Amino acid sequence: MSTLVTGIGELVTNDGSLGEGPLGLVPDAALVVEDGAVAWVGPAAAAPAADARVDVEGRAVLPGFVDSHAHLVFAGERSAEFEARMSGVPYDGGGIASTVRATREAGDDVLRARLRELVAEMRAQGTTTVEVKSGYGLTAADEERALRLAGEVTAETTFLGAHVVPAEYAGRASEYVALVTGPMLAACAPHARWVDVFCEPASPHAFDGDASRAVLVAGRDAGLGLRVHGNQLGPGPGVQLAVELGAASVDHCTYLTGADVDALASGTTVATLLPGVEFSTRQPYPDARRLLDAGVTVALATDCNPGTCFSSSMALCVALAVREMRMTPAEAVWAATAGGAAALRRTDVGHLGIGARADLCVLAAPSYRHLAYRPGVPLARTLELPG
Ligand code: NIG
Ligand code: FE
Repeated sequence: MSTLVTGIGELVTNDGSLGEGPLGLVPDAALVVEDGAVAWVGPAAAAPAADARVDVEGRAVLPGFVDSHAHLVFAGERSAEFEARMSGVPYDGGGIASTVRATREAGDDVLRARLRELVAEMRAQGTTTVEVKSGYGLTAADEERALRLAGEVTAETTFLGAHVVPAEYAGRASEYVALVTGPMLAACAPHARWVDVFCEPASPHAFDGDASRAVLVAGRDAGLGLRVHGNQLGPGPGVQLAVELGAASVDHCTYLTGADVDALASGTTVATLLPGVEFSTRQPYPDARRLLDAGVTVALATDCNPGTCFSSSMALCVALAVREMRMTPAEAVWAATAGGAAALRRTDVGHLGIGARADLCVLAAPSYRHLAYRPGVPLARTLELPG
C-alpha cells in the first residue's frame, strides 16, 4: 500500500542530499510512503501516483519527534513538591522515594493505564519514538515489572535500578549497588535495551562515580547499551564516565567543566539536554551554545517524569531551547528529531530520507520555526496515514 502525502508547505527531511541546509528543507514538497517507509521525496509538482493521497494543505511536516529520555512507569504525582520548588525549595532527588512507594503499591493495570495514557499524549503531540526507563520500583521484581510494561509500548527500554538508593537500603549504598549489578540486573536485562544510572555526587540519594561505573560495566557485560544521568545538580564525573565507557548519551549536562566539553567533543556520546527540567526546577539552563560550538552532538528530550518535569511536550523543549539556551530554531528541531535518534543509536528514525520509517509530524503552521515562535500552542501532531 502506498500513500502520497502532498501539499507540504515545508518538509524537514534532516537529509542534506534531499534538501537545503542541515534540516534538508524541501519547499512545496510531497512524499510517498510505502509499507511504512519513505519511498520518494521531492517537489509536489513531480510526485508519482500512489494508492492513497493525503493533502496537508500547506502545513509543515517534519520527522516525528524522538524523545530519548522519559520515565513513564509510575503511580501518583508530586504537584505539591513542584509548588514548593517554585517558592525556592531546591530539588535533590529526595522526592523520588514517594513515587517509589506509590509505584510499588500500584497494580499492573494502574501502571499500564498511566503509561499508555502518557504515550498517547506524546503521540498526539508529534512524538513517534520514546525511550522509557524503569527506576521507580527499585526491587528486582518491581524493576522487572516496569520494564515488561515499558516493552509493551516501546523497543527503547532502559533499566534504571540505580536511580536512587531506596529507603530500605539507607546507609548501605554499596549493598544496594551489589543488588542492582547482581540479581536485579539478571532479572531486568532480558527486558531492557539500555542501562542507566543517576550519577550525581551532589545528591545524597544518587550514586558517585565508582558506583556508577560498577552499574554501567555490569550492564555492558550483560549486553545492554549505556546511558547516564549526569551533571544535573552540580559538577561531577558523569559526563567523563559516559564518554570513557562509550555511552550512547549523557543526559542533563547542566554543570559542565571545560574538560567535560572537550571529552564530549572528542567522543561519540551525545549530550542530551532536558530544558523542561530546568523550567520545572528553577535550575540554570545548560549551556547549549558552548556544546554546539565545540562540535558536540546535542539532543533534546522531555525527561517526562512526576518529579523534575511532568511535561510530555517536545514542542515545549524546542521553544525553551531556542528562548533559554540560544539554540537556533533549526538546531532545536534537529536535536529533537535527528539528535534523539543519535542518542538512541537509531538510523531508521529522526529523518525522512529514503527508507526511513514514515513517522511524520505535521504542524498547524507553514514552517518549523513556529514551534518556537508560537510557544504553548498545540501545533504539532502525529500524521496518521491510511493503511
Ligand atoms: O531525570 N534525576 C534523576 N531522575 C529524574 C527525576 C526523577 C524524579 O524526581 O522523580 C530526572 O530528572
Ligand atoms: Fe531522567
